Amino acid sequence: MPADQGLHGNPVRLLFVGDVFGSPGRAALEWGIGSLSKEAPLDGIFINAENLAGGRGLTSAKLDECFQLGVTAVTTGNHLFDQKEAEFLLVKDPRLLRPENYSSSCPGSGHRIYTLPSGFRVGVANLIGRTFMGPADCPFAASDRLLSEFTESPTPPDFIAVDIHAEATGEKQALAFHLDGRVDVLYGTHTHVQTNDLTRYPKGMWFVGDVGMTGPLWSIVGADPASALSKYRTQVPRPFRVAEGLALFCALLVTIDAAKGKEDPGRVRDVRLIRVKTEG
Ligand SMILES: [Fe+2]
Ligand SMILES: [Fe+2]
Repeated sequence: MPADQGLHGNPVRLLFVGDVFGSPGRAALEWGIGSLSKEAPLDGIFINAENLAGGRGLTSAKLDECFQLGVTAVTTGNHLFDQKEAEFLLVKDPRLLRPENYSSSCPGSGHRIYTLPSGFRVGVANLIGRTFMGPADCPFAASDRLLSEFTESPTPPDFIAVDIHAEATGEKQALAFHLDGRVDVLYGTHTHVQTNDLTRYPKGMWFVGDVGMTGPLWSIVGADPASALSKYRTQVPRPFRVAEGLALFCALLVTIDAAKGKEDPGRVRDVRLIRVKTEG
């Protein structure tokens, strides 16, 4: 057995991609997965898909495109229900998560354990913020409940990642202190702008305020500048168009030494924040 092949297959490379926006985002996602896979295999790929279909929600067809690229599971956010298929898909497809702290009337789940082909188990949770956002239950209490479920599972996860879909940096940082030592990675989504704050917290958790959008570069958070600029200048709400042209691929790549114990500080071998321009 090669030195680098241990329990579960080793090392394990997990990719977390921020809000994938419209067709430029899907093309950039394909480019990014292809480029990183040439370095070494990607064992798990997790994307935030709240803007997947024309910037507004997601559809079965657009999700299938992503699963064809090797996407393992999908987190979402406040745009999830922009398309009518969402409710049905949440019930039908366990690869699709919605914010855990949405109302108990919301279909689907906000946390699941995904077993990768190597046997490595990744617990993924999706939370949404409440500051400058729509109504939601408490993300802190929701995280406590779902982490108890992970811990009590007969097959607990080997690694836990949480997507906090939120507007306010302070709320994301508060959650970071709440979860430090209990999850492996907490990454922000929703603002569509990558933050330069990738940090290992005191009890070992990695945190980044926002992974950033995978979508059109010359845009206003994904929208065509002319259509979005008009809305801001005139205060007249108008539908936006998805911007075209050069795209950004934004992601967090985590490499794990699966042979090391969960308490070993060297277990997470490398964490790389990626922001690359692509023709898509
Ligand atoms: Fe978004
Ligand atoms: Fe959002």
